[in-house]
Amino acid sequence: MKISIIGTGFVGLVTGSCFAEQGVDVTCVDTDRQRVNRLIYGALSIYEPGLENTMTSNVNSGRLHFSLDFNKGFEDMDYVFCTIETQPDTDGSSNVQPVLDIAKMFGQLVTRHSVFIIKSAVPVGTAEKARDIIDEQLKHRGVDFSFDIVSNPDFVTEGNAIKNFMKPDRIVIGTENKNAEEAMARLYRPILMHNTRRVIFTDMRTAEMIKYAATSMLATRVSLMNEIANLCEIVGADINIVQHGVGTDSRIGSKYINPGCGYGGNLFPQDIKDMIKIAEKGGYSMDVLKAVDSVNNRQKRILFDKLVKHYGGDIKGKTVVLWGLSFKPETDDMSDAPSIANIELLLQAGCNVRVYDPVAMNATKLRWNEVYCGIDMYDAVKGADVLMVATEWRQFLLPSWQHVKELMNDYVIIDGRNIYDANELAEYGFAYYCVGR
Ligand SMILES: NC(=O)c1ccc[n+]([C@@H]2O[C@H](COP(=O)([O-])OP(=O)(O)OC[C@H]3O[C@@H](n4cnc5c(N)ncnc54)[C@H](O)[C@@H]3O)[C@@H](O)[C@H]2O)c1
Repeated sequence: MKISIIGTGFVGLVTGSCFAEQGVDVTCVDTDRQRVNRLIYGALSIYEPGLENTMTSNVNSGRLHFSLDFNKGFEDMDYVFCTIETQPDTDGSSNVQPVLDIAKMFGQLVTRHSVFIIKSAVPVGTAEKARDIIDEQLKHRGVDFSFDIVSNPDFVTEGNAIKNFMKPDRIVIGTENKNAEEAMARLYRPILMHNTRRVIFTDMRTAEMIKYAATSMLATRVSLMNEIANLCEIVGADINIVQHGVGTDSRIGSKYINPGCGYGGNLFPQDIKDMIKIAEKGGYSMDVLKAVDSVNNRQKRILFDKLVKHYGGDIKGKTVVLWGLSFKPETDDMSDAPSIANIELLLQAGCNVRVYDPVAMNATKLRWNEVYCGIDMYDAVKGADVLMVATEWRQFLLPSWQHVKELMNDYVIIDGRNIYDANELAEYGFAYYCVGR
């Protein structure tokens, strides 16, 4: 079996490495020369636990290849996955033209019956557009073979991707006919062995909608919990206990209800905007999701707002250190991360900004010259008036508070992920602020 993956980013590398792990011959193609050259030598351009090992062992065993040559990605393939990213359009929704361009290339270069699979997150109806484009190209070439098209949205999460891929909650497969359904069942058989209930076969539009509906549901839980946390502060309730009380309700469950300083990443914010736009094009207003988006934008700045409140507005010249830059732990992805909103606000207000993150420092160095990037979490704290925590990396959970206090100039801690014990910090003499308590 031969498959190709177009796009060697997070989704492409995880998909390619995991299929190679099942014994499939996988060719990954990308337009980014530097990225492909690094991958050929086994160097990952992203941080994802377990991915480097899976990738290098399959490269070494000759099952996983990387190339800049699109012919190699479309010739003599059983399956072609499109995993490239979409770019935001001027109205904030996803511009799917790059995905349609890949479909066109598939139509121009494919050499026998192949299945074209869209894994990129795309608005409902995109797979049908891609199908029509491929159809036109094949007719134009006058070839004597057909193709199948599938919508197979990706649900893996950064930080847990290999596990998610190998043991998925479910695999959603949107097809137009039985042949494509059987081809996809064959491809995923090793992963689904003894777990056939985990496949959902449906049409392409429904598959595309499942992806957006799942993201919308999760983002709604996060924003609602953040609003409840803000209200807890006003009425004097403790969000941690409220969270426990709510999460132990079996109808609700405990996932995605941690209060904090907002969600980020390249998925939630974009998918919510897409869903709103998809609805608008159909003449419908997604009022709940509009509120989810605006609550999240407000929530991202709560670290900064708490700082301003603590100093009564007089924050110019304060030195603020931020622990955690990625939008969540175990990833170097800073897309739309709360850290970005807070760094921008701090710089605009004339603060000195120092930061530390275990893996997401490079992007910060490139983005802001004026931000000091610490060698480690304690180096970053030197001379700071305020310590803010934006990402709950494990190494931040139990710091030496004595050491932190010795290094700081003033003693203010603003915890955007509710990871610290208020009583312990009070004993050390810190002014401590968190979310919803
Ligand atoms: N990151 C996630 O957690 C996640 C989860 C599920 C779905 N998705 C969706 O999957 C898609 C990809 O996400 P990602 O995080 O892997 O993106 P990414 O930015 O990490 O990777 C995209 C890759 O595609 C390459 N690329 C762009 N245009 C190309 C072209 N014309 N030909 C070949 N390669 C091209 C880029 O160089 C890059 O290497 C997006 O639509 C995203 O919304 C992402």
